[in-house]
Amino acid sequence: MDDATLARAIHVFGVVLWIGGVGFVTTVLLPAVRRLKTPEERVAFFEAVEQRFAWQARVTTLLVGISGFYLVQTWNLWDRFAEIEFWWMHAMVLVWAVFTMMLFVAEPLVLHRWFLKRAAEKPDETFRLIQRMHWVLLTVSLVTVIGATIGSHGG
Ligand code: HEM
Repeated sequence: MDDATLARAIHVFGVVLWIGGVGFVTTVLLPAVRRLKTPEERVAFFEAVEQRFAWQARVTTLLVGISGFYLVQTWNLWDRFAEIEFWWMHAMVLVWAVFTMMLFVAEPLVLHRWFLKRAAEKPDETFRLIQRMHWVLLTVSLVTVIGATIGSHGG
């Protein structure tokens, strides 16, 4: 087995854990929390769970990014970024960049404090906003997963 094959396996492993986790939070956890708790409890509960997932997402985002760039460099795929038919390559980098910004910059520096303040004032509205944001991120991520799988196998 060569290094690139291993990198690809690490890439897919990271994507499964990371996007799978986003899928679980969006389609199972958030709707369940919404039904079971009061608005104040919801935010506190969601905070506790999402904080744990945020660490997992940080590690898997790093793994996916490093293995992805390693593949681009090893197979010299840079030219693909100049062609629209490889839109899924752009989509992968875009999804990765958005999550990296959210997890490593926005969340620890501003988002966390902003979220707590807003949640204290308008818990219901804040929770709805969180749900909407998760759906948008999940949809774009899944379109990227499908596009990348079809595209990288010659589809
Ligand atoms: C820095 C960001 C990323 C880079 C540079 C990158 C790069 C790559 C490369 C070079 C490949 C192999 C393409 C080929 O075989 O022709 C690949 C495959 C793949 N990537 Fe990414 N990727 C990144 C992020 C992501 C993200 C965020 C996702 C998920 C949302 C993702 C999902 C996939 C999938 C599903 C495959 C196909 C695996 C397979 O079927 O063998 N990648 N990626």
